[in-house]
Amino acid sequence: MTTKTTAHLRREHDEIRQRLRGLSGYLRALEGGDTGGCGEAADFLDSLGEGLLQKHEEKEEDIILPQLARMGLSWSDGALAHVRKDHRHGRDFFRTLRQSMHLRNQWSSFERAHFLSIARAWVEFVKEHMIREERILFPFMDANLSSEDDALIVSQLEKTDAEYADMAASTSLVSDGRFAQRLSGKCEQPGVSKAREGSEPSSH
Ligand SMILES: [Fe+2]
Ligand SMILES: [Fe+2]
Repeated sequence: MTTKTTAHLRREHDEIRQRLRGLSGYLRALEGGDTGGCGEAADFLDSLGEGLLQKHEEKEEDIILPQLARMGLSWSDGALAHVRKDHRHGRDFFRTLRQSMHLRNQWSSFERAHFLSIARAWVEFVKEHMIREERILFPFMDANLSSEDDALIVSQLEKTDAEYADMAASTSLVSDGRFAQRLSGKCEQPGVSKAREGSEPSSH
């Protein structure tokens, strides 16, 4: 039986997948050959990496994985250890991806190709990580979590949501909106159109 806990996590995975699809659309447009970078993509990655993904991983690291250990899974071996290692690797991977965007609107063809290759590998890494959790950890939780613990954990997950809500309102939604606008038809020449639009300066 699906618990409220794994339903919550699966919903978040779906949300992450949706954002990754948006990013993949941008990568395809960029591959089409424009010579610019795209500041909105950097903002989008920040909102994804420092907002939704960070929140999701914090829930797993602080709430879900310790609960799975209490339910009998080894902390230092097997599935839990693998997922924890994925999380550490994912944080380093994201930093590398983010650093590859530092020139933003002045990319050379080499820098663009470098970014594209890291970004594609990162998207695949995140997708595979989520599949691993869905195939191994979530079924174990669904089979073994008591309804009392399920209710308790969901309340902790929702508390984390509340803690992140202000940040999401002030950064992620705005960035995602700009990025969505870019994807809707202005991504052929990101560097040129951003300069033409006179977008506000970014902090990166
Ligand atoms: Fe995870
Ligand atoms: Fe996850």
